[in-house]
Amino acid sequence: MVLFRERFHGFFQYDTRKYVATQNLSLGLLHRLYQLSILLYIIIWVFFIKKGYQEVDSDLQSSIIIKMKGISMTNITETGPWVWGPEDYVIPPQGEYVMFVVTSFEETPNQKLGHCAESPRVLDGHCRGDEYCVMTGRCLVKDGSSNGTCEIFGWCPTEKAIKQHKAVLKNAENFTIYIKNFIRFPKFTFAKSNILETNDRSYLKKCRYDELRHPYCPIFSLGDIIKKAGSTFQDLATSGASIDVVIKWDCDLDKGSCHPQYSFTRLDNGLSNNSIARGFNFRHARYFRNAAGESSRMLYKVYGIRLNIIVDGKVCSLHLARCLKYW
Ligand SMILES: *[C@@H]1O[C@H](CO)[C@@H](O)[C@H](O)[C@H]1NC(C)=O
Ligand SMILES: *[C@@H]1O[C@H](CO)[C@@H](O)[C@H](O)[C@H]1NC(C)=O
Ligand SMILES: *[C@@H]1O[C@H](CO)[C@@H](O)[C@H](O)[C@H]1NC(C)=O
Ligand SMILES: *[C@@H]1O[C@H](CO)[C@@H](O)[C@H](O)[C@H]1NC(C)=O
Repeated sequence: MVLFRERFHGFFQYDTRKYVATQNLSLGLLHRLYQLSILLYIIIWVFFIKKGYQEVDSDLQSSIIIKMKGISMTNITETGPWVWGPEDYVIPPQGEYVMFVVTSFEETPNQKLGHCAESPRVLDGHCRGDEYCVMTGRCLVKDGSSNGTCEIFGWCPTEKAIKQHKAVLKNAENFTIYIKNFIRFPKFTFAKSNILETNDRSYLKKCRYDELRHPYCPIFSLGDIIKKAGSTFQDLATSGASIDVVIKWDCDLDKGSCHPQYSFTRLDNGLSNNSIARGFNFRHARYFRNAAGESSRMLYKVYGIRLNIIVDGKVCSLHLARCLKYW
């Protein structure tokens, strides 16, 4: 029995609390001060500063569609006049979060498959005699010089090492870019777009983005974007550049405010004018086949503006359940 009682000592026990009320002024004050500071913390910090009563959601779903318009004409000696439409200067043709616009180019027309001298730009193509060349075993040397470049089988003639001047799409400054953006905050099932809700079909044909007068006209000219990114079209047209377009949605559903804000930043701005990392270019080709079935191609080295679209945003709204979680 004794053993049993000892073992279940805690089980057959009843606990109650004993309060001691102390009539002490300083201890009482300290107690009230402690309560007051918690209350103030809740009111000032949680409610006013952190807006704890609002629920914040930065989980954003977004979709982007980009369209460009504008025509430019070039007239170069080798190929003659050529008209550039969006199908030619926008690469890839259907823009998403990244789009490239050609502003200037160098072309190597009428390349055919065959044997010819390697471009002097290719360093290991240089030779002083046939023994240097592994491809076709011939070193092509111009009369009077001691060295040359190896013969290759490829698209001939190869790209010229130094071009006199690049052809510029002068009108590219006035090309327009239409950025369609749809967003949705799934937690609030709130959705919006950056386009004015109107039945006027000609609105988008006439308007240009203006922060105050036309905040819901998402049409920019390329020149405007470059200017807002802190450069001029003349500076960028021949070297190319990469520009970030940030669309920021800062929404407060309690105040009914939810507007897109655009900002433009040139990413390679920090580099010096002669830096090799400056600018943006790449090559692509167009292929042709003549009536006799012979293939040829036109090689383009294109310079231009690469636009990266970044959509960012947060929404907040009154939500009691969330605010109760704070205490
Ligand atoms: C292109 O340039 C050539 C000479 O530079 C000129 O004769 C010709 O008329 C120009 N073509 C167009 C369509 O402007
Ligand atoms: C090839 O020869 C030229 C002179 O004809 C010379 O200036 C050049 O440095 C030589 N290149 C190489 C790679 O030897
Ligand atoms: C671009 O448009 C403006 C205004 O319409 C015009 O003044 C300017 O000459 C145009 N620029 C080019 C290169 O066509
Ligand atoms: C680059 O060149 C432009 C003029 O062409 C000049 O205004 C600018 O200060 C130069 N920037 C640097 C970093 O040298």
